[in-house]
Amino acid sequence: MKENEGNFMKGRRKSHSSAARFVKKLWGGRFTKTAEEWVDEFGASIPFDQELVEEDIEGSLAHVTMLGECGILPEGDVEQIKGGLIRLLEKAKQGELKFSIAYEDIHLNIEKMLIDDIGPVGGKLHTGRSRNDQVATDMHLYLRKRVEEILGLIRGMQRALVAQAEKHVETIMPGYTHLQRAQPISFAHHLLAYFWMLERDYERFSESQKRINRSPLGAGALAGTTFPIDRHRTAELLGFADIYENSLDAVSDRDFIIEFLSNSSMLMMHLSRLAEELILWSSQEFQFIELDDAFATGSSIMPQKKNPDMAELIRGKTGRVYGHLMALLTVMKGLPLAYNKDMQEDKEGMFDTVKTVIGSLKIFTGMIETMNVRTDVMERATKQDFSNATELADYLAAKGVPFREAHEIVGKLVLHCIEQGVFLADLPLDVYKEASPLFEEDIYDALHPRTAVNRRNSAGGTGFAEVRAALAKAKQLLSTP
Ligand code: ARG
Repeated sequence: MKENEGNFMKGRRKSHSSAARFVKKLWGGRFTKTAEEWVDEFGASIPFDQELVEEDIEGSLAHVTMLGECGILPEGDVEQIKGGLIRLLEKAKQGELKFSIAYEDIHLNIEKMLIDDIGPVGGKLHTGRSRNDQVATDMHLYLRKRVEEILGLIRGMQRALVAQAEKHVETIMPGYTHLQRAQPISFAHHLLAYFWMLERDYERFSESQKRINRSPLGAGALAGTTFPIDRHRTAELLGFADIYENSLDAVSDRDFIIEFLSNSSMLMMHLSRLAEELILWSSQEFQFIELDDAFATGSSIMPQKKNPDMAELIRGKTGRVYGHLMALLTVMKGLPLAYNKDMQEDKEGMFDTVKTVIGSLKIFTGMIETMNVRTDVMERATKQDFSNATELADYLAAKGVPFREAHEIVGKLVLHCIEQGVFLADLPLDVYKEASPLFEEDIYDALHPRTAVNRRNSAGGTGFAEVRAALAKAKQLLSTP
């Protein structure tokens, strides 16, 4: 692919009188003039849609097989075309095909190569088909495969989260709201929050396969075809579960790509939040974790630095995925039915999103697997704040004091501590008694962060028993295929 991009770049620097300018177009019949090369370049999609080369040939193989079975093309022609296509597919897999701007896109490039290889009979491949249903088919095949890969990678990252969580059920850390210490929690509980976000991402991608797995092939340019084709047969050959019901819809909607970009945006939003946390946690201020050297970089000037670059990049790349979603929504919003060339703009954002999501998931899995968790620092942090204040309010409320009053009493105690420069566990019992006669010696146990965490065993809470149950559920999910 690199090589081909190279050719493209070379072409750009040449003057307009290069050979490509005078190449006869496959659709050139009604034209008396050829476009200047720089105009061709502007219109061409081959620099990027060559990514679809394998899907394009697979689609053609199914199409020509069906043409033979339906008696539309004689078997001899079908065999020749198939032979040529298979040779092209092999070359494509070896990266040996040379694409040309003069043939605009992947579909015409492949058709031209086929004709060059087997002669004019290659020109029969396009019977009963248009590039409009062809390109839509290619992209459905492409996304189906990539979404499958993404699903596997989400599972991989979930596994990494579960593996870390298993080691840290009883590791306690400050839980935050407003980035202020709120209540102590189990570190495993924090990690598992992301497990469940990813589980919903998994569901979304997986459910989208139902809509991706439909064949547009045979819709023709927009209206179907006069040839007695069998759309169900090509769908079956390509492994599609069904066909698009309406030919106009089949060639002109890109909702399956928008849905992919939307699901990807949601996933990246989740990854970006965790990235932000890793960045905070690995700072001098928190020191909750240390990222493995393999996922960090140094500074060219400050020798002491270890930067969480990979996490920052994932947070940053989230922006480009949102951008691709917004771009395609905007491309599509004003288009009359059916196909319009605007829709060629659907590809680069989709390819880039696939690459970004796959890369981000791989990096993230590695970062989580290898990060070093500073359990001592996390636990120490829970003892140097007022995140156990709720325990005292709950203590009084459990003894019948209306929670609102209990809140007020404890609020005053916290204020007293701040004035004295101490924490709640440092106050003597008589100060507590003065605040409320219901306080007894056992408050000191309740004030222990570890006790505070462990007592929260309401469903989905951070209590150790509840976290162990959640872990078991998560592992069960990962083991069901
Ligand atoms: N390169 C085009 C695209 O990506 C393929 C479809 C072209 N169809 C057409 N009628 N010009 O959208």
